[in-house]
Amino acid sequence: MKKILSLILIIAVQQSVAQVNPKFQAKIDQQAKDLEGKVIEWRRHLHEFPELSNRETKTGAYIAEHLKKLGLEVQYPVAKTGVVALLKGAKPGPVIALRADIDALPVTERNSLPFASKVKTNFNGQETGVMHACGHDTHTAILMAVAEILSKNKSDLKGTVKFIFQPAEEGAPAGEEGGAALMVKEGVLGNPSVDVIFGMHIMSIAPLGTISYKPAGMMAAADWFSITVKGRQAHGSAPWMSIDPIVVSAQILTGLQTIISRQTELTKEAAVITIGRIQSGIRENIIPEEAFMAGTIRTLDVEMQDKIHEKIRLTATKIAESAGATAEVSIDKKFPLTYNDPALTEKMVPSLYKAAGKEKVIQIPAVTGSEDFSEYQKVVPGLFFFVGAMPPNQDPNTVPSHHTPDFMIDESAMLTGLKAMLNVTLDYMYLPTK
Ligand code: NI
Repeated sequence: MKKILSLILIIAVQQSVAQVNPKFQAKIDQQAKDLEGKVIEWRRHLHEFPELSNRETKTGAYIAEHLKKLGLEVQYPVAKTGVVALLKGAKPGPVIALRADIDALPVTERNSLPFASKVKTNFNGQETGVMHACGHDTHTAILMAVAEILSKNKSDLKGTVKFIFQPAEEGAPAGEEGGAALMVKEGVLGNPSVDVIFGMHIMSIAPLGTISYKPAGMMAAADWFSITVKGRQAHGSAPWMSIDPIVVSAQILTGLQTIISRQTELTKEAAVITIGRIQSGIRENIIPEEAFMAGTIRTLDVEMQDKIHEKIRLTATKIAESAGATAEVSIDKKFPLTYNDPALTEKMVPSLYKAAGKEKVIQIPAVTGSEDFSEYQKVVPGLFFFVGAMPPNQDPNTVPSHHTPDFMIDESAMLTGLKAMLNVTLDYMYLPTK
């Protein structure tokens, strides 16, 4: 009994060692609170002057200037317009990467905020406004604040913090490389080699002050695919002279629907196959030679993803073959699975509790949207979480979603996000295993 008691005591002590001591925690919390006004100011500046993916030159320079003032080793530009900075703590320890995305979207802002964006541009041949309509301005401001606070506490830091300000999360312009994949390609996870990575996303549609997460597959892998069906052209009055690619496409489309509903183990994870585009023919009485369809696949498990790809190929080619047509399938892996390392997630959840309050930290079902933070998680263990920022007195059912002109966040959520990023970083440094 005594042995058990002392064992419990040892476990309790070890768990408290897993986090920074309360005095240091209180100091960090206070410094976060003191910096809140600045965070809002930075965010408003970034919000007023948004830049599209791979065009974030002023944004990058603004971030780099801030980090240089803090005395960090700054690399700029990285992966087109990104910024990477290193902060070396006084004591030995792990290398922790923290990531913020910095790009805005071709959306015209619709509100009367004094810092609303008036930036205009031409995107894909269309005149449009530019807006931080996904909240990446808040991520940038928060990470600038994390850098400032951690720099002040250098003597208490164990290990190294690598700040990654990443461009083009929304996707690089056609024909260009960019985003997390390019950051990784340019070696951001090496020299010094990163042990772990943390990232967050503000959520205008989640209750204010909450933090939500899911271990393992949290945000789906997104693949784009297309199928080109080739048949034989004929007069519309004589279909027996044709191999009708429209009818074959209709059969393929129906066949694809059975991959999820009949052939996938749905209790394991959800998956989606959507055809968003279908094109064929030119007039009523001509059976065309070709039909084209394109869609997206969302999966939350890598093994299921591979199987679904295989089945799409099989379904399309065999249905086409049975009609004497051919089907050419092309699958393009856009974003990998946002996969929160389960052991890491379990370790870090108490750090999130300290930021938002235990009752406001929620484990959520998976999301079928995607995030290129997943590119880093393919290489090193990582944790990604959402910070709720829905303005009060909004109806969760009608609140404007991300990527829309009315997108709006409550700025007080940034303090929660800031504390969460600080806590996971500091607690990870003090984990007993390191
Ligand atoms: Ni986003």
